[in-house]
Amino acid sequence: MSLTFLITAGPTQEPLDPVRYLSNYSSGKMGYALARAALQRGHRVILITGPTALVPPKGARVIRVTTAGEMYRQVMRHYKKAHVIFKVAAVADYRPAKVSKQKIKKTKKNETLKLVRNPDILKALGRKVKKNQILVGFAAETKNGLVNAKKKLSEKKCDWIILNQVNQKGIGFNSDTNQVTLLSQKGQIWPLKRATKKRLAGQILTKILSTP
Ligand code: CTP
Repeated sequence: MSLTFLITAGPTQEPLDPVRYLSNYSSGKMGYALARAALQRGHRVILITGPTALVPPKGARVIRVTTAGEMYRQVMRHYKKAHVIFKVAAVADYRPAKVSKQKIKKTKKNETLKLVRNPDILKALGRKVKKNQILVGFAAETKNGLVNAKKKLSEKKCDWIILNQVNQKGIGFNSDTNQVTLLSQKGQIWPLKRATKKRLAGQILTKILSTP
């Protein structure tokens, strides 16, 4: 059966002034690999992507966003069409409280940046999705991975959380390989061997689509 996937990928960028922004090291590679894997299996893909250097896979409907706020609005506009939602994007949790219209000039003093919370898109989806939709989140962790991933699984009410240990050499952000562990709402814990993001994307799709 051909399904519709909604996949978010890449970082978000939160502007501070016309020449600066806050962001993170996400490359978009894992999200794009999942999009490519789903398309190769004959599914439809809506790819909501933050700024990345990657070429989107052919056949995906690509929606480009910059900030977490824009990503939130686009996800809310499209999620109802999706059978499977992958929230791979590394969404900035905070944005500068004020965006200056002009470049902020330096002074002699030190400065403190005031930040305000962005919406948690995955958490909002967890409250809205229907029982027949599969909601998959990612957890980017630098320590206590399993504990933190389980916490996200329950707080964000998704069907799966994919734990991504992002501070080890050769895996995680910007790397071509990754090592992930799948955790399901039903209590399954399924570690995958370190592999290319392409290979992992295939394994993740197979596992998630074959689990009743
Ligand atoms: N996420 C989201 N909206 C946010 C922050 C995160 O949708 N504002 C989603 C991510 O796309 C990912 C999951 O929530 O699927 C977990 O993101 P992560 O950055 O690991 O965790 P946070 O929820 O931001 O928590 P913390 O920063 O405290 O680890």
